Amino acid sequence: MNSILDSRPALRAVIDQVAEVTGYLWQKGWAERNGGNITVNITEHADEEIKALPAIAPVRQIGKTLPHLRGQYFYAKGTGKRMRDLARQPMQNGAIIRICPDCASYEIIADEPVMPTSELPSHLALQDYLLETGSTYKATLHTHPIELVAMSHSERFLRPGEMTRVLWSMIPETLAFAPLGIGIVPYKLPGSVELADATLEQIKEHDVVLWEKHGTVAVGQDIMDAFDQTDVLCKAANIYMCARSMGFEPDGMTPEAVREVQQVFNLPTKRPS
Ligand code: 13P
Ligand code: ZN
Repeated sequence: MNSILDSRPALRAVIDQVAEVTGYLWQKGWAERNGGNITVNITEHADEEIKALPAIAPVRQIGKTLPHLRGQYFYAKGTGKRMRDLARQPMQNGAIIRICPDCASYEIIADEPVMPTSELPSHLALQDYLLETGSTYKATLHTHPIELVAMSHSERFLRPGEMTRVLWSMIPETLAFAPLGIGIVPYKLPGSVELADATLEQIKEHDVVLWEKHGTVAVGQDIMDAFDQTDVLCKAANIYMCARSMGFEPDGMTPEAVREVQQVFNLPTKRPS
């Protein structure tokens, strides 16, 4: 079967990277069954031929009006599809969609009429924000990282700033590579517009957003970058958990040591656009 990737090596490279990352998600145990989802903005690869492609399924509503997405193109994981299957066959387990002129609906144009993820409202709300702010980021990743989700079951770690403080203090690299920390979204129904709205507010000020008792959402230059953002924070959570398993509350780096890293490495305090 013909694929939109045929004779488009740059677009193929983007999708190959998605497939590589979904393999990692499965290996890490973050992607049980159909857990997690991905979108990548591929508009820069939409040549005239792609723009002329007809819809292959009826137009569907996003659930939100997103004014910066008019005519944008995305690769999206299919709803109900497994990351481990996507790793082998990304185009059979995801689809290319085009946002309609009303900015509130989309159509599937390739390769197959695979319905996009149920978390599309959250992904597209973030993609809209990235375009609005002139960001060069193209990818959004929702996954179920075990240690971070476990921490979200504790009222202590849901308090503003507490999870970030603890994770930063586990290892200097967490601070260096996630200088905006992790934002918390109190539990909301998966796939809901309320979840999308709350996620959008938190990503404005954080590297990664944690959905209470569910998972994370990260944005990145590409999907590898979004994966790394999540991985860095999950590693810190894992160190915290290992210390607790050994029977003690870890001391953590001192606040002075944390401040020193922030100053010496001139870490950003705002999301770069
Ligand atoms: P989808 O299969 O619809 O992408 O849903 C997976 C998920 O993790 C929902 O939060
Ligand atoms: Zn989920």
